[in-house]
Amino acid sequence: MAKNEMKKILITGAVGQIGSELTTALRKKHGNDNVVACGRKTKPSDKLFNSGPFEYVDITDKDSVEKVVKKYDIDTVYNMAAILSAVGEEKPLVCWNVNINGMYNILEIAHEYDMVRIFVPSSIAAFGPETPRNNTPNETILKPKTMYGVTKVAGELLGDYYFKRFGVDVRGIRYPGIISNETFPGGGTTDYAVEIFYEAIKNKKYTCFLKKDTTLPMMYMPDCIKGTVDLMQADIKKLKHHCDFNMASMSFSAGELAAEIKKHIPEFKVDYKPDFRQAIADSWPESIDDSVARKEWGWKPSYDLSSMTRDMLEVLGKKYKEGKL
Ligand code: SER
Repeated sequence: MAKNEMKKILITGAVGQIGSELTTALRKKHGNDNVVACGRKTKPSDKLFNSGPFEYVDITDKDSVEKVVKKYDIDTVYNMAAILSAVGEEKPLVCWNVNINGMYNILEIAHEYDMVRIFVPSSIAAFGPETPRNNTPNETILKPKTMYGVTKVAGELLGDYYFKRFGVDVRGIRYPGIISNETFPGGGTTDYAVEIFYEAIKNKKYTCFLKKDTTLPMMYMPDCIKGTVDLMQADIKKLKHHCDFNMASMSFSAGELAAEIKKHIPEFKVDYKPDFRQAIADSWPESIDDSVARKEWGWKPSYDLSSMTRDMLEVLGKKYKEGKL
């Protein structure tokens, strides 16, 4: 088999917001039995559990990962298990342990087992208050002030190190806030942009934990999945970067998102009670320059604020009517 072919895929963090939808997409693409979904503790949804192999794995325990890698002859890993920014500030040690030591285990195993390819997500949290806040370039100051951000910068460097030093094909994207309607995000600062839709549909009101004028880069899940899969398919000869691609699609403030939802639900009311997450958001960029990703692997988003909002309300509205929210 050519080493370039991704045949047996393992997804850590598969019960999470991105992992769950990525599992569905990859099972469609590579065949159900070829995509092993892994979670640490949380029970998987019936859809995830019934559509292909599922295993409990703790990435901080190298043996538990290795067992599954051997059992299924894994050659590709999407390492989506992570502690996000808000929980990371509450539990910095756990955040370091999962995001760095866990990732280190994955990279070591990839090296030992001569794997084909590894995906490790980074985030806009890799940037900090000294970074230019608008149209943030790919190459810029990386001095984050959150533990989550520290692990993301270290993770980018670690991934690049494994590529240069050991030839492990590690790839990664700096995700913006991801908006989705299947699995709830957990413990992030951009989570408000998901919660607001559920509350708009269910209660017609929402209390936002960020200020009205706080602007952040965001992306709709279909674009996130497409970008992730596209980067993993990209010709390595065209990649000058590996683990640190900026990837953008839209930027909006909490107030602008509320106004967009109000176009569909005029009675929707939002008030703003910023908490500790405001300081995290204030340290991140407002918009991102993703020209490097566009050039090296052809990244191009499909959704903007208006099409994303329409689709979110349609999908969640339907679920609500069916009693599934
Ligand atoms: N969505 C993440 C968070 O808010 C950012 O990568 O923590």
